[in-house]
Amino acid sequence: MGKKKKKKKDIIKGALLRSPAAEDTMEFKGRFEKHHDELRWLYMELYDNGSMFAELCGRLAQFYEERGSALKALDRKREADPDWYKQNDMLGMMFYIDNFAGTINGVKEKLSYIEQCKVNYIHLMPFLETPKGRSDGGYAVSDFRKVQKGLGTMEDLESFTAACHEKGVNVCMDFVMNHTSEDHEWAIKAREGDGEYMSRYFFFENSYIPSLYENTVPQVFPTTAPGNFTWLPEQKHFVMTSFYPYQWDLNYKNPRVFNEMMYNFLYLANRGIDVMRIDAVPYIWKELNTQCRNLPQVHTIVRLMRLISEIVCPGILLLGEVVMEPEKVTPYFGTPQKPECHMLYNVTTMATTWHTVATRDVSLLKKQLDTVFGLPGEYLFLNYLRCHDDIGWGLDYGALAQKGMEERAHKKYLNDYFQGYAGESNSRGELYNYDPVTGDARFCGTTASMCGIEKAGFEQDSTAMERAVQLDVMLHAYMFVQSGIPVLYSGDEIGQVNDYGYKEDKDKAGDSRFLHRGRFDWDLAANISDRSSVQGKLFERLGQLEEIRRRQKVFVSSASVRTVETWDASVLCVERSFGGEKMVALFNFSETEKTAWIEVEDGVYLDLVSGSNVQANGMKVPGYGFYYLKKA
Ligand code: GLC
Repeated sequence: MGKKKKKKKDIIKGALLRSPAAEDTMEFKGRFEKHHDELRWLYMELYDNGSMFAELCGRLAQFYEERGSALKALDRKREADPDWYKQNDMLGMMFYIDNFAGTINGVKEKLSYIEQCKVNYIHLMPFLETPKGRSDGGYAVSDFRKVQKGLGTMEDLESFTAACHEKGVNVCMDFVMNHTSEDHEWAIKAREGDGEYMSRYFFFENSYIPSLYENTVPQVFPTTAPGNFTWLPEQKHFVMTSFYPYQWDLNYKNPRVFNEMMYNFLYLANRGIDVMRIDAVPYIWKELNTQCRNLPQVHTIVRLMRLISEIVCPGILLLGEVVMEPEKVTPYFGTPQKPECHMLYNVTTMATTWHTVATRDVSLLKKQLDTVFGLPGEYLFLNYLRCHDDIGWGLDYGALAQKGMEERAHKKYLNDYFQGYAGESNSRGELYNYDPVTGDARFCGTTASMCGIEKAGFEQDSTAMERAVQLDVMLHAYMFVQSGIPVLYSGDEIGQVNDYGYKEDKDKAGDSRFLHRGRFDWDLAANISDRSSVQGKLFERLGQLEEIRRRQKVFVSSASVRTVETWDASVLCVERSFGGEKMVALFNFSETEKTAWIEVEDGVYLDLVSGSNVQANGMKVPGYGFYYLKKA
C-alpha cells in the first residue's frame, strides 16, 4: 500500500517537473544564472544600489512569465541557431505605418505586397504615442505602452507581429531611450516641480552649468533646434534637450530611469518585436566637460540591455543607431565574449556611396569597403542607400585631403551636386540643417530623385530616364554585394520621388527630412507588372537581384569579401568567396562605358544576371552598368 502511494507521488512530481510551467521556470533560472554575475557586476558598478538591482531581477522574472508561448518557442529556436539572422535571405524594408497603409491593420492587409517585394524584415517607423506637431517623426514618445491614436492599438500590434511570424517576417521597432516627449507623464510631473521626476531629467536653475556643457557638446540640429538646453519660463529652469526642445534627455545616472526604461523595453519586446532599434544610443550618458557621446557608461548600459534580453527574450536582436565615424561605430558590437549590439548601420559606407555617385571616383569607397570587409565576420551591418534621416557627409576627409579635396569645399560640392546645381548632376533634393557658421549642411532626397528619376520624369526625357533607372538599379546591386542585411526605404522599389507636399503641412514644413518620407503611392505600385513603366522596370530588376542574392551562397555574411583593383577610377570590383564558390562583381559609377582590368582567376564566368558566359578580365562595363560574375 505504502509503496503504491509513493509511486503515485513520484509520478505526480515527475509530471510537475516536466510541466510547461516548470520547464519555463527552469529555462528562466538557467539563463538568469548564466548571466547574473555580470549583470550584477555592471549594475552595481553604475548604480551601487542593491535594492534597485533586486527589483530589476524580480521584474525580469515577471516579464519572462508574461512572454507568450509562441515567442518563447521562437526564442528557443533562435538560441539554438544564433546565426539565424546572418544568412543571405534577409531583406529589409522600412516605412511609416500611416504612409504605407494607414494603420497597423492596414499594413497587415498589405503583407502580400511585402512578400512580393521578397522582404522578410520590416522596420515600422516610430508608432508610439507622440504629441501632434511636436513629434520629430515619432521620436518624441509620450507613452511607451500606447500606440499612437489613429494607427491602432497594442492588441493590433500583437496580432500583427504574430501574423508576420507566420509568414517568416521579422518586425523591427524603435526604442527611443535617450529622451521622452515633454508630454510624457514623468515630464509633466517634473514640470509640476516634483523632485523625484525632475531627477529623471537634467534640470538646472540657471545657465551656469548648461553653458559649461555647451562648451564641449556639439549640436545635433544646429538650425532647427540650436543648443542643448531649453529654458522653461514657468518652471524657471533649464532642461537638457539635445534634440528638439520638446525631447527631454533622460538621466541614466538615476537607476529608476534605467529600470523603468528596461521595463518598457521588455513590455514592447513581449508584443512580438524581433529587432529593437536603439535610437540615438551614443547620447544616452552625459558628463560635464565631454562631448556627451559614446561615453564608457553607454557601453555598460548596452551590455546590460543585451544581458537582460538574453535572459528574458533571447530571440530579440539589438540594432544600434550609431551615426558616427567608423572608429566610434564598431565598439557597439562589443567583444565576442561580451557582445553588445547584434547589428549596426553601415553609415559611412552609405555616405561614401553618394560621394562616389557625385565624383565618379571609387577610390574612397574602395578604401571604406576594405575597412568594413576587414572587420571580424561576426559583425553584421545593415546596408542602405537611404533611410528616414538626412545624409550627413561624414567621409574620410584625411584620405580626401591627400587628393587635394578640402572638407568644407567638398561638402559644399556634394550639397550643390545633389541639389542639381553642380557637375553633371541629375539629382534633386534639399539641404537639411544648414549651419551658416560652419557652412555645414546635410542632405535630403529619395534614392530615385537622387538618381535622376524625378528630373527625367519632369522633363519627359526617356533617355535620361533609362540612365537614371540604370543608376538606381546599379546602386542596389552594389548594396546587395555588401555583407549584412540590405534595407530598402519603402517606395524605393518603385522609384518614388521626393514629396514636396510637406511644405504645406505646418507640422512638417520646418523639417526637410519629410521630403523623403512621403506617402507610399499605391497607384504607382499598381504598375509593377507593366515592364514599360519605371515602376515595372525597377521592381522587376530589383526582384531579380534579390532572387540571385537569396539563391547564391556567396552572399552569406560569413563569406570572405575583398575589393579588387580595376585600373579604372569609376569601376568598383568586389569579390565574394564562400565554400569554394566565387563571385566577382563590377560596378561602373560613371555614365560612360569603361573597361575593367581585374586580377582575378582566369577562365569562364557566368553572368548571373544575363545567364551568359564571359571572361571576367577586360570586361567592358556600360555606363552605370554592373555584372555579377560567378566562377564557373
Ligand atoms: C534618431 C532618429 C532621428 C531622430 C533622432 C532623435 O537619430 O533616426 O530621426 O530625429 O534620433 O530621436
